[in-house]
Amino acid sequence: MKILGIAGSLRQDSFSYKTLLVAMQKIKNPEIEQEIIQLRDLNLPFCDGSSDYDNHSDVALFRQKVRESKAILLAAPEYHGSVSGALKNALDLLEVEQVKGKVIGLIAVCGGVSNTGAINTLRIVCRWLHALVIPEQIVIAEAFTAFDERGQLRDPQLDAKLKEMVDHLVLFADRYPFSS
Ligand SMILES: Cc1cc2nc3c(=O)[nH]c(=O)nc-3n(C[C@H](O)[C@H](O)[C@H](O)COP(=O)(O)O)c2cc1C
Repeated sequence: MKILGIAGSLRQDSFSYKTLLVAMQKIKNPEIEQEIIQLRDLNLPFCDGSSDYDNHSDVALFRQKVRESKAILLAAPEYHGSVSGALKNALDLLEVEQVKGKVIGLIAVCGGVSNTGAINTLRIVCRWLHALVIPEQIVIAEAFTAFDERGQLRDPQLDAKLKEMVDHLVLFADRYPFSS
């Protein structure tokens, strides 16, 4: 099984990426392959409504990485109470064919207080991509204070909740008959 983390921020030192690093550390099973991609490392064009992006090899690469995964952890920066434009655009570049049957866990990262605007939006988007979004979800509030100098979450309860979510993601992906 492969789990793909997608960090939906273009910012250097992004807390979305840091959260994915912590989340992936919770997976101890060596048979589970893991990879994190940061949108800032991909050269993705704006979705223009066509399906072919022959001059943009990173679109094919992004689609391939999603297709090859069984489960996905989506980490979204909360922007104006919703999902960042960069992440929504990346999801718009995906087709149902690459996403259907995937099991997805959602994380939102907020500069302010806890809010589920980005997560609620992503649930709808992922549904339209025919993925299964698990009920567990994580919000990292006031992200600039949430991590210690080792990059770990300061709040043990939040850390335990993140572990529970990752455990459930693996369980769902293992048992969901439509994931490939
Ligand atoms: C355009 C923009 C809008 C934002 N809107 C919100 C918001 O609505 N609520 C919030 O808590 N933080 C908001 N923030 C702060 C980001 O959520 C915060 O910087 C977060 O760490 C971004 O994720 P990243 O560290 O992965 O880039 C906003 C930041 C930007 C740049």
